[in-house]
Amino acid sequence: MKVNGKPYRSIWDEDGLVKVIDQRWLPHDFRIATLIDLDGFATAIRDMWVRGAPLIGATAAYGMAHAMTTSPTDTTLTAAYDRLIDTRPTAINLKWALDRCRATLSDTPEPQRAATALTLARAIADEDVEINRRIGEYGFEIIEKIAAQKQPGDPVRLLTHCNAGWIATVDWGTATSPMYQAADKGIDLHVWVDETRPRNQGALTSWELGSHGISHSYITDNAGGHLMQHGLVDMVITGTDRTTATGDVCNKIGTYLKALAAHDNGVPFYVALPSPTIDWTVSDGIRDIPIEDRDPREVSHVLGTGPNGIDSVRVTPPDSPVANPAFDVTPARLVTGLITERGVVAPHDLKSLFPEHA
Ligand code: MRU
Repeated sequence: MKVNGKPYRSIWDEDGLVKVIDQRWLPHDFRIATLIDLDGFATAIRDMWVRGAPLIGATAAYGMAHAMTTSPTDTTLTAAYDRLIDTRPTAINLKWALDRCRATLSDTPEPQRAATALTLARAIADEDVEINRRIGEYGFEIIEKIAAQKQPGDPVRLLTHCNAGWIATVDWGTATSPMYQAADKGIDLHVWVDETRPRNQGALTSWELGSHGISHSYITDNAGGHLMQHGLVDMVITGTDRTTATGDVCNKIGTYLKALAAHDNGVPFYVALPSPTIDWTVSDGIRDIPIEDRDPREVSHVLGTGPNGIDSVRVTPPDSPVANPAFDVTPARLVTGLITERGVVAPHDLKSLFPEHA
């Protein structure tokens, strides 16, 4: 997507260097970072310079490619895998990408490993773009049906949580791809964007939607239920960090509460789900998906911009302990449909779209 009129992906390689949009500073400042060693890749994922399940996977693949340029041995392969795998435990795309890289590279003779690893990282990035483009097409069909029942001047009102946008993927985004495609085809939209404390990824979503000219309002995390009760939400659409084979959806903390409110108000709750985000080994998301317990400072402090530039301020009493579970699980029964690159499916039927995993 475009930033100040120039097309970008969230990660790319250029002249032998891997570059990313450093998301820590958005929406206040647009900065690009160069990842120069394996520590840099691990730090960028762990400390959320890059974030969002698909982008975490693509960054890990580029990290493996970098490791192979330093030393294409089995020892380096294992060390790079081990270094990267623990950086963000919840998003399954990390493991998916690392497993794919390790399997391919183990079967590749050492002299060819660096080139093969780079080709694979690029392929993973390109595939992500295509997957999200297709998710957008299927999601667009849902939005189009809602739009067909609207009066002129009454926009389709969507609600989204966190940032499942183009900067959380390589391009397009998952939950935002249908929005971009609907807006590009002239559908009148308004998007309610959950703030998504503690890290306020809603500000990233607002930045994205604003850059694309899509009407939106940044709302507190507590506002969604009220808006649904008053008929002001036609559809909720979120991303996911890991979805089980049975359709339980793990996503950013607070997603579950939105699903409950949607269920209570008869609002359809859709999840945009690229297939690399499916964990086919897990059937009970609440029991089996590890939930990141993140830095308490993300809750006790808020980053913003003021007269002295970008700054972080404390919002809690200095001695109050803080808890920071970063994700929650929405049970499949609360999910209307999963929008995948192969089509839209009821959560319990996910395997029907992916018979190779049945
Ligand atoms: O902690 P984050 O910012 O990496 O969490 C991101 C989310 O929860 C997204 O909704 C999810 O990864 C889907 S991204 C397309």
